[in-house]
Amino acid sequence: MFKAQYASIASLGLLVFVVQPAAAVSYNLVKDYSGSTFFDEWVFYDHFDNLTNGDAVFVSASTAASSKLAFVDSGSGHAIVKVDNTSQVPSNEKRNTVRISTKDRYAVGSVWVADMFHVPFGCSVWPAWWSQAPDWPIGGEIDTFEGVNQVTHNQMGLHTTTGCNQVSPVQSSTLVNSTNCDHLADSNLGCIVTNPDAASYGQAFSAAGGGIFVTELASSGISIWFFERKNIPSIFSSNSSTIDTSTLGTPTANWPTGGCDVNKFFEPQALILDITLCGDFAGAPTVFSQTCSGNCYTDYVIGPPSTYDNAYFELGYVRVYGSGNTVVKGNGAAQIGLSSAYTWLFCGTLLLGMLWFN
Ligand SMILES: *[C@@H]1O[C@H](CO)[C@@H](O)[C@H](O)[C@H]1NC(C)=O
Ligand SMILES: *[C@@H]1O[C@H](CO)[C@@H](O)[C@H](O)[C@H]1NC(C)=O
Ligand SMILES: *[C@@H]1O[C@H](CO)[C@@H](O)[C@H](O)[C@H]1NC(C)=O
Ligand SMILES: *[C@@H]1O[C@H](CO)[C@@H](O)[C@H](O)[C@H]1NC(C)=O
Repeated sequence: MFKAQYASIASLGLLVFVVQPAAAVSYNLVKDYSGSTFFDEWVFYDHFDNLTNGDAVFVSASTAASSKLAFVDSGSGHAIVKVDNTSQVPSNEKRNTVRISTKDRYAVGSVWVADMFHVPFGCSVWPAWWSQAPDWPIGGEIDTFEGVNQVTHNQMGLHTTTGCNQVSPVQSSTLVNSTNCDHLADSNLGCIVTNPDAASYGQAFSAAGGGIFVTELASSGISIWFFERKNIPSIFSSNSSTIDTSTLGTPTANWPTGGCDVNKFFEPQALILDITLCGDFAGAPTVFSQTCSGNCYTDYVIGPPSTYDNAYFELGYVRVYGSGNTVVKGNGAAQIGLSSAYTWLFCGTLLLGMLWFN
């Protein structure tokens, strides 16, 4: 997710590239988050937004369940993740919402698919469906879906350490905002592509029945596809347990490994779904004023909840596919503790020491 200064990218305009499509890779289903067990293997952040300065409290699993901010709808079987739209929030307080991340992480050689019927929107609302490695910016970040306030198009992007650029993508007629993925460049703008599909965000998204977001983290590059519901490929609608991404056509956004060595810049990713309010992106005055009026916090977050009736995700499933052994089992604690690499290094050193002294 980006952190500051967006005005500078408006001047970059439209770039179109045409190159060869990527080679075929097939993947097998390794994880299915859906139905009554949808929320079982995620970590709830359980702290106010100290990551992007949002005016939001990301609640615990128990609060999310008891106040119905994260639940499975018994009628549709869909998972709902939402902002509190029932409470009056007093001045100087933040509004409750949700940030969840998967306990397991998914390495290079993975594809994740999110089936969504509704995405959050409205003034002050900043939702994202994204992923990152535990030691950000080391190990990279992939933003599959992100929008703020009342924008009408989804934006996608990567954030990395220095040396990753979007060069010669296969995507066509997509809107490229910026090509340097380095978090140190352009105030961590990232390398951003805007989805040209007007049904990729906001009211138009749910009016078209939603759709699926497909994210491929492959050695050959990172690709994202968005399919409106009427265009969902049969390998997904038939719930095939094996998929071949070469059948999906040209990605909506693509970052080939030529400009960004995927194996160097990307480590196993935890998948994250969150909705914050205002903060570094949605609340930046120059961004906020593009689609909303007034003050992000005082005119929307506090007081009556009426702004937030559309501030929810409705998901059919999140499915993850892998080619080979790409699942890193975890309890999610790595996000705030030692990275598993350090843990292994530490354990390995201990083991070597024990062997040596025996
Ligand atoms: C990205 O570029 C498109 C096309 O120029 C523009 O409509 C959009 O506002 C830009 N996005 C941002 C976040 O500046
Ligand atoms: C946010 O708060 C959590 C819980 O106190 C803490 O572990 C984490 O380090 C904080 N993160 C930042 C960026 O301040
Ligand atoms: C595929 O899975 C979804 C969600 O579990 C289910 O609603 C749908 O009926 C399934 N479709 C087929 C063709 O099996
Ligand atoms: C909150 O939003 C949901 C989803 O749009 C809606 O069904 C519900 O009626 C809203 N609650 C209130 C109190 O407005």
